[in-house]
Amino acid sequence: MVKHRIKDITLAEEGLRKVEWARREMPVLKMIGERFEREKPLAGIKIGGCLHITSETANLASTLVKGGAQVFLCASNPLSTQDEVASALVKFFNISVFAIKGDDREAYYRNIIAVLEERPLFTIDDGADLVTTLHTKRRDLLEGTKGGTEETTTGVIRLRSMAREGVLKYPIIAVNDAKSKFLFDNRYGTGQSTIDGILRATNILLAGKKFVVFGYGWCGKGLAMRARGMGAQVIVCEVDPFKALEAVMDGFLVMHSLEAAEIGDIFVTVTGDKSVLRGEHFKLMKDGAILANSGHFDVEIDIPALEMMSKSKRRVRPMVEEYLLEDGKRIYLLAEGRLVNLAAGEGHPSSVMDMSFATQALCIEYLAKSADSLKPDVYPVPKEVEETVARLKLASLGVKIDELTPEQEKYLQSWAEGT
Ligand code: ADE
Repeated sequence: MVKHRIKDITLAEEGLRKVEWARREMPVLKMIGERFEREKPLAGIKIGGCLHITSETANLASTLVKGGAQVFLCASNPLSTQDEVASALVKFFNISVFAIKGDDREAYYRNIIAVLEERPLFTIDDGADLVTTLHTKRRDLLEGTKGGTEETTTGVIRLRSMAREGVLKYPIIAVNDAKSKFLFDNRYGTGQSTIDGILRATNILLAGKKFVVFGYGWCGKGLAMRARGMGAQVIVCEVDPFKALEAVMDGFLVMHSLEAAEIGDIFVTVTGDKSVLRGEHFKLMKDGAILANSGHFDVEIDIPALEMMSKSKRRVRPMVEEYLLEDGKRIYLLAEGRLVNLAAGEGHPSSVMDMSFATQALCIEYLAKSADSLKPDVYPVPKEVEETVARLKLASLGVKIDELTPEQEKYLQSWAEGT
């Protein structure tokens, strides 16, 4: 059996059924996999992935294997691993996995290092922990890596900062910034899966609740839209004046976070920044307020401050911690402030991950052809890749769209015709 560190290999059959179920909703990845099987564009290439270990990731990994790659995976979040999927990957797909749901910080980084020690030619990251570990703790392993991709907004921000400071040593493609990714995954994926995670954790009714969304980027937009669809009264808090105005004109109440803190029932952070909800907010909240985070890292809610303000805490449901504050008020924190959609739910639905991971697979194929000609920097996804994914998805849905006529093409190229 391939190298691994997983919870329990006897879960593999259950995991395989989940991977197959997800595959039904991933037709674009399936088509790419069929072509990869014939053409073997990744023959002999080692790929290290730091991704949420889910049934959707399993389908990405198996697509890369069909292309001829050898794949090594670790988790990009200690609470998002689906242990049964990890077992299936090892037993049925010959893919090395180093991840157990609930791993502590030390085990989390040991798993990352186990992947890096396989000396992958390409990295696939979700949050940039793999790349940053390679560039800091394990620089000795840097030489053999020639390129990588990044899945998420937070990771792209970190990698751009590395590129600006001149410390990034190989080219990375910002998959997150592709239209075939953020317009769908960040918006519809986060929108649905965040609500799903909150409901699985709490089983509360959303209708009529005051639901406060922090951040009106693509993820925040999707979440606000879906919370409204469930009948919640949605309030948006922002720091960017344009995003705030967008939220106003989309019909949401927009207010300062200290005003929202007093009236909200449920608070969800999706900003990518730290201490978005902090002591000054906790002080103002109503008894019974529920807090969740759907941003990449668990820094958006200032949990140390909440701990300091509390006289006790207890677990009241598997993903719900009750904090009893000095004044007798109770505040509920979901999923330890980690990504609620992946920790309490199963992450984005497969159909949306189909597009993100099809983009990933095609970017890895692009790197296999072009990495040598790219200097260390963060690059956009090639236009043809984005467009291929969108067109394949439409075809898989049986949706036909129009083409420009030659006359329209010519008109768009020319400045001559006016009023
Ligand atoms: N990120 C968000 N949802 C995901 C999923 N289902 N699988 C992998 N990564 C994800």
